[in-house]
Amino acid sequence: MCGIIGYAGTKPVAPILLEGLERLEYRGYDSAGIALAAENTVVRTRAAGRLANLRAALEKSVAGPGANHSESLRQQTRGSSGGLAAPQAAGVGHTRWATHGAPTEQNAHPHQSNGGKYTLVHNGIIENYQALRTFLAKNGTECRTETDTEVIAQLLEFYDTGNPLETLRRVLPQLEGSYALAVLYYAQPGIIYAAKRKSPLLAAQSHHGTLLASDAAALLPLSRAHYRLEDGDLAVLTRHSIRFFDGEGQEQIKTPQVMSRHISAAEKKGYEHFMRKEMAEQPEAVRLTLEPLLRQGGPHLGSAEEALRGADRIDRVLFLGCGSAWHAGMCGCVVIEELAGVPAAAALASEFRSQVVTINQNTLVIVVSQSGETADTLMALRQAKAAGARTLGIINVEGSSIAEESGSVIFTRAGLEVAVATTKAYSAQLAAVYALAARLGQLRGTLGGGKMRAFLHALAALPGLLEETLAASEEEMLRWAEEIAPKEHAYFLGRNLDWAAALEGSLKLKEISYIHAEAYAAGELKHGTISLIEQGTPVVSVCMRPGVVAKTMSNNEEVRARGAAVYCLTNDPSVTARRRFLLPACHPLLGVSFAAVPLQLLAYHCARLRGCDIDKPRSLAKSVTVE
Ligand code: F6R
Repeated sequence: MCGIIGYAGTKPVAPILLEGLERLEYRGYDSAGIALAAENTVVRTRAAGRLANLRAALEKSVAGPGANHSESLRQQTRGSSGGLAAPQAAGVGHTRWATHGAPTEQNAHPHQSNGGKYTLVHNGIIENYQALRTFLAKNGTECRTETDTEVIAQLLEFYDTGNPLETLRRVLPQLEGSYALAVLYYAQPGIIYAAKRKSPLLAAQSHHGTLLASDAAALLPLSRAHYRLEDGDLAVLTRHSIRFFDGEGQEQIKTPQVMSRHISAAEKKGYEHFMRKEMAEQPEAVRLTLEPLLRQGGPHLGSAEEALRGADRIDRVLFLGCGSAWHAGMCGCVVIEELAGVPAAAALASEFRSQVVTINQNTLVIVVSQSGETADTLMALRQAKAAGARTLGIINVEGSSIAEESGSVIFTRAGLEVAVATTKAYSAQLAAVYALAARLGQLRGTLGGGKMRAFLHALAALPGLLEETLAASEEEMLRWAEEIAPKEHAYFLGRNLDWAAALEGSLKLKEISYIHAEAYAAGELKHGTISLIEQGTPVVSVCMRPGVVAKTMSNNEEVRARGAAVYCLTNDPSVTARRRFLLPACHPLLGVSFAAVPLQLLAYHCARLRGCDIDKPRSLAKSVTVE
């Protein structure tokens, strides 16, 4: 979703902002803009669509007839041919994922107050913006865009005291909702003001200036250490310094956090798409995730062990997450119940928030998130903590909001995931869940001896077998895709863990290929949905889980009798189907990891054949920071 970058320093500002925005592109956006501070003015350039449009607009504004750029702005935009750096340069940039108002240039950030005093970019949602618009209109200020953000700029100008920090402290309490803000003031061209509530914001120092970003990925390669703003914090960034203040105006001392592992640049490394590259990285992501968790000869969660203290008292496990992270949680339930004997459930974080909370200190709440920034998951985590539950995060991004607030964290080691549709991070989540279940089973005395050895042995073999599965699936999934890509609907079936696999497979297919797909618990189809099956309807059936395969096969027959074209993923050679892909024999709890690979490839090839924008599907964002 929306991304923020800010820079105050001696280098030309626009190239740094554009590079930062490029690093934020993976989050998903539909318009972009930057603002550059100059003498007593702030100049904005915005464009609907991709960053290429913004670049073109910038070029035009610098070079075109009637260009309104001063020499200092020209330097900030293009760099100085003579090596002269603008001494007091600052700017902010934004990628917008539209919530309030269409993705037009007019609605794109940065937004500016009518008198031009305040210019800002914003992540989050101002929930009371209508009331604030009405207030402004009554007092003679008309908003010019459809956005919730514009009211912040207008209010700042309305209450301007000439001291932006003081003005912010006056305006921010009037805002309901969430915000990460980067603000330029017309009379202070080298300064960025920042504020944060509920949306992430980081500040960093480089050797030629200071930076602000909503996401650590945007700060690289300029700085690997960053300061994290907390809710209620304000910050003032100049070329030389970053100062932090609380809501009362008291200066705060913060310690920078150093990223313990390098977030590599987003590079396709010869692959046509990031998604394809990230699929290929799955064995490594799983290996790196499992390695520290199994290092001691048995499962051990390191600092996350804290969440399992007094494991005997844990009487319920609740997974919380959204989308694929929820699917990983569904798998976690099955594995934990089987290995650790604790009742487990997985709830959608967005739904959990409106439920009556019946959890307590004996409930282990596990929040699963790749980005660590999903707003619903973060809010659900806070709700679980407030109810007294012990909490544990399975998170891919160090320093993310959910990682910071989870208490205990198991980090998945998938590295930067750029494609909007998750692949390697999901596989790494499953790996973390397996290790966690094994450790919980060990601590509770339900998993030991031969059963433990067999499970650990299977986990050790997992990365290698995933590698083989990737290579073996390619051709067959392309064949399936050639048949399925022309269709408009598809169904996915499975029972138990296979149902979770089916849900994940259908999500992948619909999000990147735009084929309508639904996943059903195989026994449920005949309670209504089977009426939609007609001649040629593709039905992808996952038959990996011993004990339920025979029943799913009967369900396959039911849809086949109604004309469905059945495509079956299985590692049971006795399963027959019109199209069958045989996966490697594996531990009965791990089939879901293997099924994920061909299902991703199927979605990928369908999307490719349909000419879709695979890495950036329409309307989707990588990091869903609104509720
Ligand atoms: C699907 C997908 C999404 C995410 C969901 C949660 O391919 O990527 O469904 O799984 O938005 O995101 P995180 O894991 O960042 O909380």
